[in-house]
Amino acid sequence: MKTPNLLLVVLAFGLPDAAGVRATMWQDVPTDGEGLYNIACAGCHGPAGRGVPPDRIAFDVPVPDFTDCSFSSREPDADWITVAMHGGPVRGFDETMPAYGEAFSEEQLQLVMDYIRTFCADDRWPRGELNLPRPLVTEKAYPEDEAVTTVGIDLDGPGSIINEFVWERRIGPQSQFELKAPFGFMQNPVTGSWEGGIGDLTLGVKHALFHGLESGSILSIGFEAKIPTGDEDKGFGNGTAVGEPFVAFGQILPGDAFLHAQVLMEFPFSTDVAQEELQWRGVLGRSWSQGGYGRTWTPMIELLAETELENVDVEWSIVPQIQITLNTRQHVMANVGVLLPLTNASLRSTRLMVYLLWDWFDGGFFDGW
Ligand code: HEC
Repeated sequence: MKTPNLLLVVLAFGLPDAAGVRATMWQDVPTDGEGLYNIACAGCHGPAGRGVPPDRIAFDVPVPDFTDCSFSSREPDADWITVAMHGGPVRGFDETMPAYGEAFSEEQLQLVMDYIRTFCADDRWPRGELNLPRPLVTEKAYPEDEAVTTVGIDLDGPGSIINEFVWERRIGPQSQFELKAPFGFMQNPVTGSWEGGIGDLTLGVKHALFHGLESGSILSIGFEAKIPTGDEDKGFGNGTAVGEPFVAFGQILPGDAFLHAQVLMEFPFSTDVAQEELQWRGVLGRSWSQGGYGRTWTPMIELLAETELENVDVEWSIVPQIQITLNTRQHVMANVGVLLPLTNASLRSTRLMVYLLWDWFDGGFFDGW
């Protein structure tokens, strides 16, 4: 693998042999990001970051366009430095992307990244660092291109398996559209027989009002509309349309820790069948990567509270959980947790929750394993 990579670097530099590359690399190594980029990366990624045209390179793997903010803004520096240090395959990319870990220090690669960041000059795009791991219940502030299927199984009380399929799509730099489709099976508490059905379809929009990499925070507002498509008699759905405005906040904390917070209100169209509700949610988590850049494990603790506006009683739940990246590209993940009721525990059931998440912008489901 080393030899073809070196060969490609040689081809990229247009130099006669590997010794030539080494000579150029070590004679006058620039001390700034632009200079380092120009000697090491520009041969393939192009002086302007758009990628060298296919007819001018000796391989047929498309080179990404760093000036495309929609693509480049979502990748955190740490991920890109990992790719530059260890080569494309470390994140399930092609081996044409060489490893610079022996030629450059992490500090030098950070300088290169700072320079690559200047190719996207539009700072309306929230940076990928603010895309914090997704909890099981709380909505994130970061606008996403994701498909998530969550399964919830009640562990006590009458049987209930409720699944939810969520499709999220970014619109422009700061906004997102989403569709939620719940479906599942419930056991009739009297007859004991199981019945399947769909729940209330939800359409939602979200917009990042504020985001800053220096402050490490992102704040979004959103609105969801639940359409009463579910069969209320079987226990699926509210039986009325519900409007849900919400505010979501994400904060990076020191030491790879983070928090999410969300406040939402539920306004049913008909208050005869459903109540106006207030809910608030908070999540604290931290990520660990195996060997520094391998599989990522993110334990989180989620606290959920909800109350009917006319009522003073608050129902609290806690959801310990762990998110795990499943593939090398890290764009397919799972999260497993248990929702434990803290109040009214005798009336509410403990629920096992699992999701499978596919960040579809980063590649097909089967890419990068
Ligand atoms: C020999 C050609 C070549 C050189 C030299 C090269 N790259 Fe790459 N790079 C590629 C190719 C090809 C890809 C796309 C791989 C893929 O999509 O499977 C890539 C992908 C990447 C990515 C991943 C982008 C993503 O999709 O997330 C990063 C980051 C990157 N290169 C950074 C660098 C940096 C920094 C340098 C210089 C230190 C550099 N590259 C030098 C060919 C090269």
